[in-house]
Amino acid sequence: MKVTSLRLAFQTALLAVCFAATGRADAADMSQQAQQGLQGKLEYCKTCHGLSGEGYRGYYPMPRLAGQQPEYLENQLQAFIRRSRTNPVMSNVAHGLTPSMVAALAANLRDLNPNPYGGAPRDSLALGKTIFEQGLPESNVPACSACHGPDAKGKAEIPRLAGQLYWYTVKSLTNWSRERGQGSLKDTSAIMVPTTHNLTQAQISALAAYVSYLK
Ligand code: HEC
Ligand code: HEC
Repeated sequence: MKVTSLRLAFQTALLAVCFAATGRADAADMSQQAQQGLQGKLEYCKTCHGLSGEGYRGYYPMPRLAGQQPEYLENQLQAFIRRSRTNPVMSNVAHGLTPSMVAALAANLRDLNPNPYGGAPRDSLALGKTIFEQGLPESNVPACSACHGPDAKGKAEIPRLAGQLYWYTVKSLTNWSRERGQGSLKDTSAIMVPTTHNLTQAQISALAAYVSYLK
């Protein structure tokens, strides 16, 4: 009885190791130099975005990057480089990154899973949940879950919102048309324009608080 359960535990552990090993196969293929470069860059990102990519509320709100969709993350770094998304800090950071480095960073950040940063007001979580799941038909606001997913985990170019810092999401939705989609090239940011215009400040706050607590 005891031996069987021990053996089972051992087999499970072995399986876990094997899976971990296949997951890291592409990382193992990288040259040692590239690995060191990647780790150095990751540490640099984490000085602002938090040790586990959970985000940080500093002078600017630093968004959570942990668990973010790689396609979305890559799109945003491209947008910072083109300056179609304006941010003085991130334009400089993104400029120095090669495409292969961007892909490696995105893959690493996707695998992080820290607890949400927290700290958002809790007085309108129910309103946030309702808008997230049902939208506001009378104001032409679609259900966020239709695109961002019922758990707000996102998909491909649609970002994860779960666990995102409250202050960052409020700022993003409030300033959308002034910070994103700048210049003549139309990009994915256009999808969010009508929604951001049709939300009131109180509704933005409720939505930002609601998603900030999702794991
Ligand atoms: C000096 C601080 C700082 C460093 C270092 C930094 N970032 Fe940022 N990052 C920011 C700030 C501030 C924002 C928010 C920009 C905004 O409000 O639009 C941001 C935003 C982002 C976004 C957009 C996130 C979203 O949800 O849209 C991505 C992606 C990003 N950073 C990736 C990185 C990566 C990768 C690195 C490391 C190579 C890095 N950052 C290093 C400060 C920093
Ligand atoms: C039709 C699909 C769609 C719907 C519906 C939608 N979104 Fe989005 N959302 C997107 C896409 C695509 C992006 C990425 C835009 C980009 O690339 O700049 C995005 C980006 C965002 C961001 C920026 C995230 C970040 O990390 O900076 C926030 C916040 C957001 N959406 C909130 C919402 C909320 C709240 C709702 C509901 C009221 C909503 N979205 C409804 C497609 C959608």
